[in-house]
Amino acid sequence: MLRSVILAASRSSRMERLVETAPYTRGVVRRFVAGTTNTDALSVTRTLVDDGMTVSLDYLSEDTVTPEQAVAARDEYLALLAALATAGQTPAAEVSLKLSALGQGFDEQLAYEHARAICAAAVEAGTTVTLDMEDHTTIDSTLDTLVRLRHDYPSTGVALQAYLRRTESDCRELATVGSRVRLCKGAYREPESVAYQSMRDVNKSYVRCMNILMSGPGYPMVATHDSRLIAIGEDRARWFDRGADEFEFQMLYGIRPDEQARLAAEGYTVRLYLPYGTDWYGYLMRRIAERPSNLVFFARALTMKG
Ligand code: FDA
Repeated sequence: MLRSVILAASRSSRMERLVETAPYTRGVVRRFVAGTTNTDALSVTRTLVDDGMTVSLDYLSEDTVTPEQAVAARDEYLALLAALATAGQTPAAEVSLKLSALGQGFDEQLAYEHARAICAAAVEAGTTVTLDMEDHTTIDSTLDTLVRLRHDYPSTGVALQAYLRRTESDCRELATVGSRVRLCKGAYREPESVAYQSMRDVNKSYVRCMNILMSGPGYPMVATHDSRLIAIGEDRARWFDRGADEFEFQMLYGIRPDEQARLAAEGYTVRLYLPYGTDWYGYLMRRIAERPSNLVFFARALTMKG
């Protein structure tokens, strides 16, 4: 119920204005988001890489509805990749892309072409691209685009969501040599017809999917903050004799930093998903919806006087 209210607030422009103008919310935003510009993103990346982490940078751009917005998102990624290469932050830092930001919602071919330009720039910069996965209506289009991109840029990765009933079969399809698959639980509200509804079923699906990926010849990216799933990931890595360069753990920037540090200290590759951009509001509200204790922290900042 609370989660639905917060997710509804994530789509409210009145609430967005209130959050943007409240004097003490900046600290909360900065806990989860690197900042608004690629200079901010680069500066946080540098600190994280110095701390032994790897990074996947996401330029936040929600609701792309015009070709001009799609071009702007593409150009930001191109500028970011150039800046990362110049600063010597590749290959430790890669980029994550939402095809919707590149126009997938109104022109799939356009989104593919923009993603292709970004993949070419990533290869030039010596790094990789991972496609985020969005709501279930976009999955076939995203996986088709992945196949096309991998034809010329085989290191392109993709996220799969364990809450979807189809994902076990998608994992089987993608557990091939050279493929990079990020396994997450899934962040959208999906109907029963396509997605498991209880956390128990989602977790069971996650383990089945992880077994497929970890036992296959691809490069699994285990993206979760769930201690039990991380422990199973560590166990499977030992069982399948995977070294630190044969799989990785991934977490969102700002969530469970102690666990991130523990895994890195144990010698695992840990990649932090690091978003930046002026369009941070929707992303922030989704992170708050995932965890009631974030809401307390956030509400306190919102009601404090400047
Ligand atoms: P779960 O939600 O069960 O949380 C497990 C524990 O982690 C909690 O008990 C708490 O301790 C901690 N935790 C989780 N979320 C927290 C928060 N917001 N604040 C504080 N603590 C928190 N989704 C998607 O649909 N498409 C995608 O492309 C991606 N990409 C992606 C990349 C990476 C690197 C990660 C880590 C996650 C994603 N996700 C995603 C989001 C993912 O689907 C999911 O919504 C979140 O990761 C939360 O799920 P957990 O696996 O952490 O489990």
